[in-house]
Amino acid sequence: KGKRAFIAGVADDIGYGWAIAKSLAAAGAEILVGTWVPALSIFETSLQRGKFDESRILPDGSLMEITKIYPLDAVFDNPDDVPEDIKTNRRYAAYTNWTVQEAAESVKQDFGSIDILVHSLANGPEVSKPLLETSRKGYLAALSASTYSNVSLLKHFLPLMNPGGSAISLTHHASQRVFPGYGGGMSSAKAALESDTRVLAFEAGRKHKIRVNTVSAGPLKSRAAKAIGFIDTMVEYSKANAPLQKELSADEVGNTVAFLASPLASAITGAVIYVDNGLNAMGVGV
Ligand code: NAI
Repeated sequence: KGKRAFIAGVADDIGYGWAIAKSLAAAGAEILVGTWVPALSIFETSLQRGKFDESRILPDGSLMEITKIYPLDAVFDNPDDVPEDIKTNRRYAAYTNWTVQEAAESVKQDFGSIDILVHSLANGPEVSKPLLETSRKGYLAALSASTYSNVSLLKHFLPLMNPGGSAISLTHHASQRVFPGYGGGMSSAKAALESDTRVLAFEAGRKHKIRVNTVSAGPLKSRAAKAIGFIDTMVEYSKANAPLQKELSADEVGNTVAFLASPLASAITGAVIYVDNGLNAMGVGV
């Protein structure tokens, strides 16, 4: 009770970030979100116009409240990193303080501290290209947006996290096994994210008593997943071949994040927790 969460990567009501926000809200946490600058205006307008009201309903019948929405672009750590064309871009110029460092400073000014940090974002501009056809630029962009963003978020939010707090990111099994179609260096980005989870768990655990984990989620037809292109196939494949033959709901991932953020998980850190109906356990589909 009384915990405060900052969830980076919420821009609609269908992705994992929204479901995580709901599960944390249902468990009594105060919700702050960080929304990608180019998606912020539509997200805020839709929220204000009640477009998400139905999906805001919590198990007790009340509506999830988002206390504050922060603009965020997690590929930039501070204003010195921002190139001129982004600075002057109409969608970016409409907002201020959206680099990671500035967002952390804003949250500190507004609320002082947080207990839970969630990274639910990824971007790989060349995701639809096989690794052999991926450019250096595309590969590094995938790592920057999907992996270093997690290091940077934790680095900048750690000083305002209360001891006993918890940081959680989302990963994909393509880090460990081949998923043709999950290209552009995104498989590499997730492998690095999982390795970072262990190192960050050590460093943040020793320094600040913060736990760091990642949830390896099964397929969800989110906005980002639709952009990759083979999400319908993955949903069907999972339903046909996983030990549990049902569609995965975003809430199941949200509830796991709420568990990992809670004292019930007080000895779990540096872990990759699969929430995928068990698909990762299979060697072949049957
Ligand atoms: P989503 O589209 O709901 O979430 C991705 C979010 O990242 C979006 O809100 C987008 O605006 C934001 N974003 C992109 N670049 C950003 C940047 N530079 N700065 C700040 N925000 C940025 O899609 P989804 O699928 O819910 O993704 C959330 C996480 O779940 C990602 O890490 C993804 O890799 C992971 N995941 C998704 C699976 C799926 O099947 N949908 C399966 C396993 C993991």
